[in-house]
Amino acid sequence: MLTNFRTLYAALALAFALGGTVQALAPGFKPSLPFSLPPIPSNLPSSPTGSTPAFPGGLPVLPSPAQWADARLNDYRPSKARLAYRGDQGMAVSWSTPKQLPLPAVLFGKTPSLLDRIATSTTSITYNTSTYYSNHVILDGLEPNSKYYYLPILGDPVKDVRSFTTAYTPGDTTPYTIAVVADLGTMGSLGLSDHVPPGAANPLTTGEITTIQRLTMTQTTYDHIMHVGDIAYADYWLKEVVLGYINGSIAAGPQLYEQINEEFYDEMEPLTSSLPYHVLPGNHDSNCDNSGYKNYTESICPPALTHFTGYNQHWNMPSDLSGGFKNMFHSYDVGMVHYVVYDTETDLGGGLVGPEDAGGSSGANDGPLTSGSAQMDFLRKDLASVDRTKTPWVIAAGHRPWYMAAKSSSLCTVCQTAFEQLFNDHGVDLVLNGHQHNMQRQTPLLPGGVIDPNGLNNPKGPMYILTGAAGHFDGLDAAKTPFPAYTQFVNDTLYGFSRLTFHNRTHLTHEFVSSKTGSVLDSATLYKQH
Ligand SMILES: [Fe+2]
Repeated sequence: MLTNFRTLYAALALAFALGGTVQALAPGFKPSLPFSLPPIPSNLPSSPTGSTPAFPGGLPVLPSPAQWADARLNDYRPSKARLAYRGDQGMAVSWSTPKQLPLPAVLFGKTPSLLDRIATSTTSITYNTSTYYSNHVILDGLEPNSKYYYLPILGDPVKDVRSFTTAYTPGDTTPYTIAVVADLGTMGSLGLSDHVPPGAANPLTTGEITTIQRLTMTQTTYDHIMHVGDIAYADYWLKEVVLGYINGSIAAGPQLYEQINEEFYDEMEPLTSSLPYHVLPGNHDSNCDNSGYKNYTESICPPALTHFTGYNQHWNMPSDLSGGFKNMFHSYDVGMVHYVVYDTETDLGGGLVGPEDAGGSSGANDGPLTSGSAQMDFLRKDLASVDRTKTPWVIAAGHRPWYMAAKSSSLCTVCQTAFEQLFNDHGVDLVLNGHQHNMQRQTPLLPGGVIDPNGLNNPKGPMYILTGAAGHFDGLDAAKTPFPAYTQFVNDTLYGFSRLTFHNRTHLTHEFVSSKTGSVLDSATLYKQH
């Protein structure tokens, strides 16, 4: 049956391309399909973990060709396309459809006019309260550092063709720049706007360029984007309803949650469909109760909106390639950099209880998601196996900081216990965090917060960057004064993000960029004698 589907989709590819020329199609063209997709079963399996194949019992029987109609086609129209690196010769392509795709497929090629290859999967998954299915397909056999065009199946062959560039091969010392955001929520009437209710701060000024807009305007200057946790802030439906910012009720929570998520993914689509977008979990990605706002507990969340369910279904990080787990922790290489992405919320191992674990500081019950010390085992193995001759730079990214100018109760000391010594033992160069909603750069630090006497000139300890000022409903957090002695820069009044430029094997520049103006608020170049 699978072969039949592949044959049929290949025929569809030809129908799209009309002999190999997508560009020749008229705007608004809707393909005349040579076959029909199966009817969608009414009792589709729910897949709360995201790991269950779309059709565990096997692919359904093909229907008659007459079942395809334009109205039906809209049920499969792709949106919210998103990418993630898979080595230097692959790319994970994901997108959303209102209905389940029997066989998700992506047409791709080296030019937009010749999408002459096709990749398929059987992963089209959803969960109870979601309004769409997440389709995940892997493209492989690609050339490193090469541009490809792609089109999710049944996308508009004129409007929906996107492109991406594959990663530099490990060891390639070509300079490049990435953008890093954290704590970035939905903009507009469901999130951050030019008016905020009491308790929120820093409304946008009229016409102010948001972080999403600035990143979109400058996207060609970045190789990829990292989002260091807290994505969309869908769980803010609760606070927004209680404060009267949006209409709704507690009972309508799941619908509002999904609405905010969908809005964010649509706002981000120009970025996520063109640049690999690597994510990690934050506390606002775990469940729907906004960390227990106004004493509401996780009991108001349906099971599908707990345990990072939507987060783990929506994205597709290369955990299977790197020994990681779902979208919770993974690693990847791009050129001269090894990125290791870790989870500060759950699964800290060693008997430690993460903030979002059962019994953790947030009061949630969303982890652990693995048994034993899976994350710490992964990190130890991953960091020990880095080939510094190929990837001299090692960048660690996790949501919660343990060094910052903030009240002491906000510091993630349990994270520090879990990760700090390991990062120092393996010469991690830079630690990226979010969670606190402002920008802070700390000087390189040795374990225990001891200031590295070398500063930026070949320190032994990592430099710590807090880049949590991307913007969401609540605005920005004031940094606590007086600042710790290790703090080198603070901005808590402007929205912004980080820009990292890897110049060569020894020099890296970190910049804080104002979303409003595009200007650089702070710049620091780290020298490491790798
Ligand atoms: Fe957070």
